[in-house]
Amino acid sequence: MTKLTTNPYKGVRDFYPEDMAAQRYMFDVWRMTAEHFGFEQYDASILEPSELYKSKGAVNEEMVNEQTYTFTDRGDREVTLRPEMTPTVARMVAHKRRDLHFPVRWYSIPNLFRYERMQRGRLREHWQLNCDIFGVDDVSADIEIILLANEIFKNFGAINGKQYNIHVSSRRLLEALYDALDLDTDARTAATRLADRKNKMEAVDFKAKMTEAVGNKASEVLTFLNADNINVVPDSVKTSEAYAEMKTLVETMKEMHCKVIFDPTIIRGFDYYTGIVFEVVDLDPENNRAMMGGGRYDNLTEVFGGEPITGIGFGFGDVTLKDFLISHDLMTTDIMSVTLAVLPTDLALNLEAQKIAQEFRVAGVATKVDLSGKKVGKKISLAGEQFVDYVLVLGEDEVKSKSYKVKDLIEGTEITGTLEELIEKLAN
Ligand code: HAM
Repeated sequence: MTKLTTNPYKGVRDFYPEDMAAQRYMFDVWRMTAEHFGFEQYDASILEPSELYKSKGAVNEEMVNEQTYTFTDRGDREVTLRPEMTPTVARMVAHKRRDLHFPVRWYSIPNLFRYERMQRGRLREHWQLNCDIFGVDDVSADIEIILLANEIFKNFGAINGKQYNIHVSSRRLLEALYDALDLDTDARTAATRLADRKNKMEAVDFKAKMTEAVGNKASEVLTFLNADNINVVPDSVKTSEAYAEMKTLVETMKEMHCKVIFDPTIIRGFDYYTGIVFEVVDLDPENNRAMMGGGRYDNLTEVFGGEPITGIGFGFGDVTLKDFLISHDLMTTDIMSVTLAVLPTDLALNLEAQKIAQEFRVAGVATKVDLSGKKVGKKISLAGEQFVDYVLVLGEDEVKSKSYKVKDLIEGTEITGTLEELIEKLAN
């Protein structure tokens, strides 16, 4: 008989309890922070009709053509495992547009599937916090979304500028530059595609390719893409609304003590972005993938008919976040423990131990029982490794005398008393 592999499918992860504990910690901080900003949770199925990702302007061609998991169901429908959440949330908002009170602030933590070439920070299944605001075409919503992103990092104990940077740019500003240079559609598309790859190319190569794409306008495009702050972009874009919007964003964020870096090379691969775009990067060079990315998309709901509803939001991935937390020593490990472990000294005392544990649980103390046949010393050290705070060793003497000892594993102290006394102590 051929043996089956115990490995999971390529590019996905099994979540053992310690992985689940880390995931729960990350999701809890995500949820808590999103709700602190007034976002409401939504969800949907991982299955979507494939056409959702094929409509013009809806997504990113590379993703649709090369990275989706698509199959035909028994009823001949083409189905895709969702590679991202934005088309889904746009669909849901469009579906209920008449019943919703805008602005809508929604969040979700979906698992997403992309058939990617696997590398550090990139797998084939990941989870992503998505936060989006619909119905506000004003830079104040863009500011709120970036503040929320920053607040999440703060709540993980990270410091802006020390462990991560927030890079912002604007598709609208890029279009203003193209307008000023009078570029045609093909030149715009070619220049934008190239700009997206600027940081991966040699400067000479980049310049040559840009000249191929936009001819003698290349030097102005390069001046724009090399700008390291909003004040040094070419004068030709400084009269545009997009410039005023970007300047307001950068200056307001500064007033609010949230540093953002103007970086015109942030393009974001999806076709649906139309305004401010941003990414948060990890400053550990080992983690060279963006941790989150987002931006404004004005027309995505249009594909469902009716007037478009503008949206602004981000996706924040769990794989890159976990690498970030571990690299910067910010991962909390004390996240899967119970408060008390009851440790019978003999298998014959397991039932008695179970009864005592249940009394603690009823009083609100998270309690487990070590039902193994291990020696009691081993049981105590295991409880310590599992971050249990207290242990109660249960032997014949304790059962007979009804007087018990609880040891505080952190302080190294011990308290003795009746069950009622000890329960009261621990429950408080
Ligand atoms: P995205 O840039 O494709 O944006 O993904 C956002 C984040 O998800 C990335 O920065 C990364 O942390 C994580 N991520 C993406 N792909 C993978 C992967 N294969 N493995 C591990 N992590 C990954 C979007 O998906 C947009 N829909 C975000 C958005 C929401 N824009 C507006 N609202």
